Amino acid sequence: MKILVLGDIVGRPGRNIIKDNLKSIQDEFDIDFTIANGENASSGLGITEKNASDMIDWGVDVITTGNHVWDKKETEGYIDNYDWILRPANYPDPCPGKGYIIKEKNGAKIAVINTSGLVYLKSLDCPFKKIDEILLEIPSDVKIRILDFHAEATAEKISMGYYCSQRVSLVFGTHTHVQTADCRILDDYTGYITDVGMTGPLDGVIGVDRDIILKGFLSKRPGKYSIAYGPVQINGLVADIDESGKCKELFNFIKIYE
Ligand SMILES: [Fe+2]
Ligand SMILES: [Fe+2]
Repeated sequence: MKILVLGDIVGRPGRNIIKDNLKSIQDEFDIDFTIANGENASSGLGITEKNASDMIDWGVDVITTGNHVWDKKETEGYIDNYDWILRPANYPDPCPGKGYIIKEKNGAKIAVINTSGLVYLKSLDCPFKKIDEILLEIPSDVKIRILDFHAEATAEKISMGYYCSQRVSLVFGTHTHVQTADCRILDDYTGYITDVGMTGPLDGVIGVDRDIILKGFLSKRPGKYSIAYGPVQINGLVADIDESGKCKELFNFIKIYE
């Protein structure tokens, strides 16, 4: 089972590049199942129902999210209507939406889990204890288990990778929007990368217009964010996972579209 992961989709540039190129990337890498982080898909902040549905129509199987999941007011109203969008599982109960989901595709059952880190982010429930709970809940015949750990600190993400080692098929980090160069297979089982990166404008600051961000650093006063323009990049990861749940092969990629 070949899994494609796309780093955080940012704004219209990120959405359009997926709309135009996802099918050819899926063909190029012979992909069975696609996961995309969509927390920044709508103007950089959150994801509308329309933008989420479009991404599914274009070939994404599951959308994960993160700290920006509730930025669009409408999300609380629609998130329970669909079996293809997740919010971090470690939000305290009660909370709309789901933290993990089991899908069937090309003869395989795949569990996709989404949790959030706590370092420099909201103080949610412990993501380490939450993954233990979820792994107990997932039926034993679901061998392919994938975690999007949406977190800021590299140490917290690497720790989660080791914590899930040999229990989860693939652990990928999201949130920083910068792809890390540490993609590897842990303990001959678990595919791991600290951050997949971002699908959005290349020449901004993590997707935002560079002038606004620079002005903020120089003036110490906040500005109104707008999405950057110019060339767009797709940051992704491809994992080949066998029927036992073991990650056999893993590589990351960056594609730039002028
Ligand atoms: Fe993000
Ligand atoms: Fe985030």
